[in-house]
Amino acid sequence: MERIINADIMPEDDKIEQGLRPSYLTEYIGQEKAKKNLKVFIEAAKKRKESLDHVLLYGPPGLGKTTLAAIVANEMGVNLKITSGPAIEKPGELAAILNSLSPNDVLFIDEIHRLNKQVEEVLYPAMEDFAIDIVIGKGAGARSIRLELPRFTLIGATTRAGMLTAPLRDRFGVVNRLEFYNVTELMQIIVRSAGVLGVSIDDEGALEIAKRSRGTPRLANRFLKRVRDFAEVEHSGKIDFDVAKEALDRLDVDSLGLDNTDRNILETMIYKFNGGPVGLDTLAAAIGEDSGTIEDVYEPYLIKNGFINRTPRGRIVTEHCYKHFGLENLIARED
Ligand code: ADE
Repeated sequence: MERIINADIMPEDDKIEQGLRPSYLTEYIGQEKAKKNLKVFIEAAKKRKESLDHVLLYGPPGLGKTTLAAIVANEMGVNLKITSGPAIEKPGELAAILNSLSPNDVLFIDEIHRLNKQVEEVLYPAMEDFAIDIVIGKGAGARSIRLELPRFTLIGATTRAGMLTAPLRDRFGVVNRLEFYNVTELMQIIVRSAGVLGVSIDDEGALEIAKRSRGTPRLANRFLKRVRDFAEVEHSGKIDFDVAKEALDRLDVDSLGLDNTDRNILETMIYKFNGGPVGLDTLAAAIGEDSGTIEDVYEPYLIKNGFINRTPRGRIVTEHCYKHFGLENLIARED
């Protein structure tokens, strides 16, 4: 007899999270340019029964780099191994990972700009010649032997392509920059995820969550789950505009998706530094946040949406920013 699946499986959050991820390119919403390119390269590699060329994905966090890597492995019909730059401390650890791959497998290295130099040097011959050189012995008697590897695909992900060394960057045959999603795409993702989660949502509810998700699917899905909690506990269970708005207001996510840290950054710039220009490190020290985190995580969205401009003398807040905070009176004061 047919059983209704899902009734008592997948209770844990991380399984739900994985369930939200699309498995095929056709289900993946947005990133049209990257998707179209990858589709061609995957088909070509499959036709030739070869591994896909190495792929570099870069862009702000939460835009679906891991999801895309999983889709590539799935579409190629191969295994996916996931690791990250900071997790590999020694060349031997990377050698062991590479040696464990089966032909055409995908190795995903997140935060690849954080690999240390010795480890990175193991990658060069691995990516180029599918081999690693192991040094045996010490001093004058040292010699190196070559260990052949199966052909594999490296998918590297980074929030900052500029931080990659040239030799590493040059070894990627395919380079894709991931962009922030527009509101329509985020709505589609939210409606799809709501379907997977079995929660009912109308267009206005999805739009309100989309508008506040900073162009980022990870946030859209996270907000959807929190709004669902409010909907189920304090309302009928259905997500509409009022439920989404109330829940997100209570989570301190404002109408344009700015959260407490964003507001802290902008208000510090306005009140402590007269709107700027202020250098990144000075700003980071003033709010007690890591400058790399500001640059990679917070700033891209603030720049993209016109709250901050970068100038040669530092960051400045924009008119749009003053208006968002209702501080029009401060705009013209330098005239
Ligand atoms: N979930 C997270 N990112 C997604 C995307 N780009 N498309 C569909 N579902 C997603």
